[in-house]
Amino acid sequence: MSQTQIKLYYKNVLADVIGEEHGITTNQFDDLARQTSPLITWLNGEKDACRTPYRRLFSDTDIRDAVKDMVADVKPDCDTLVVLGIGGSALGNIALQTALNPYMYNIDDNQRSGPRLFVLDNVDPAQLASFFDWLGDGLDRTIFNVISKSGQTAETAAQFLYVRKLLSDKLGQKACKRRIIATTDQKQGTLRTIVDKEGYRSLIVPDGVGGRFSVLSAVGLFSAAMCGIDIDALLAGAADMDAKASCENFKKNPAAINAAINHHFYTRDTRGKKNSVIMPYCYALKDMADWYRQLWAESLGKSIDLDGKKVFIGPTPIRALGATDQHSQIQLYREGPNDKLFTFLQVREFDREIKTGPAPKCASDLDFLANMKMSTLLNNEKRATEYALLQDRRPCLTILFDKVNAYTVGQFICLFEVSTSFAGALFNINPYNQPAVELGKEATFALMHKPGEYKKGWTYEGFADEIRSRTDIAEEFLV
Ligand code: PA5
Repeated sequence: MSQTQIKLYYKNVLADVIGEEHGITTNQFDDLARQTSPLITWLNGEKDACRTPYRRLFSDTDIRDAVKDMVADVKPDCDTLVVLGIGGSALGNIALQTALNPYMYNIDDNQRSGPRLFVLDNVDPAQLASFFDWLGDGLDRTIFNVISKSGQTAETAAQFLYVRKLLSDKLGQKACKRRIIATTDQKQGTLRTIVDKEGYRSLIVPDGVGGRFSVLSAVGLFSAAMCGIDIDALLAGAADMDAKASCENFKKNPAAINAAINHHFYTRDTRGKKNSVIMPYCYALKDMADWYRQLWAESLGKSIDLDGKKVFIGPTPIRALGATDQHSQIQLYREGPNDKLFTFLQVREFDREIKTGPAPKCASDLDFLANMKMSTLLNNEKRATEYALLQDRRPCLTILFDKVNAYTVGQFICLFEVSTSFAGALFNINPYNQPAVELGKEATFALMHKPGEYKKGWTYEGFADEIRSRTDIAEEFLV
């Protein structure tokens, strides 16, 4: 087993530290253990019965072999890899890249062990036009990985149509086929139909694995492996955490404790913490916080519970970055409403180190910073912020990384995915669907003139009229 680990540190949510009004007392913690322990047994049963298919990804050698074969095939003639996708089909790719490759990866050839990576997770024409201007003649050494589980997402489909035409016009049909790799469902969806008819190569999004739980499938592994990330270590870290997250002893199960603490703070009477701030003190983990934000929001924000009762539930995940956001958010976090649970991500040992320089003679008040390691400053800033929040009785968790590497990042992903499953059970909601996202998708189809029926007795055209009547800009209200 790797020496590097992540650990969940929860002392600073306890009443002993922040007082009984906001903190968790020993009795309350014991109650959390009593309430959550049966869920560990239940979730282990779900895993064994293959009802949490994302947990099978950690040991699925077929997927990793297929990814490695594809990488071996396409990497030699690829200078630029472009991911076309959105939501769960993009955020994991971005997060892995930021976490595990150097800051200047795309810019500096010496810091790169694979193609440049761009994840185009939007349909902003100015952004796309600028990108394709830059790409220019590089098309014939670019691979486009179009990722869509459903194969029907408008944004990804639109990007795909653009790229398909661009490639056919500039390089011809044959080369177009070689430059596009689709990652989609094995059997169904429009993208699967196109792949089969037009003969693109493809990777598979496994059955039952939703977008936001799919980063450790081909969805995230392909771009990671192309860009030199050790996907074996990533999966080994996830499998290691999965074993910990299966431990029947609540007090040794980080995912169960994490979910129970989050649920406790959300549901706690008037002093409830409805917001969940994740704040990495490590630039590399900044996009992991974005990935977490989608996972938590789409999974736990639900209006109806498993008994069909209206509940309108779900903690609001907020991303902040230390130390940057100390100078933007901390005033609110300390003196605003005590309605947030904080989760810091802290790194013991950074990959690289630099030191400050000596202080000028005229500025002896900077002596305390002279010749100091930047990591010492950053980690002390985390402690200082945590201390300040604790003074105001704000609960703080920390995920402590020995180092940021593929193994610990795999652990982190698994920790939060399984925490989400536990939290779903505690909130008594289905964490694996996203019905509220569907209406917006359908409304976009209608406004873009999709033909046919939106639902029984209602055409897309009629639906579009209804949407326009509610969203057309009424001039009299423009000031
Ligand atoms: O987590 C999810 O399920 C969503 O965020 C989807 O990933 C997102 O809507 C994109 O869907 P698709 O991969 O089907 O294009």
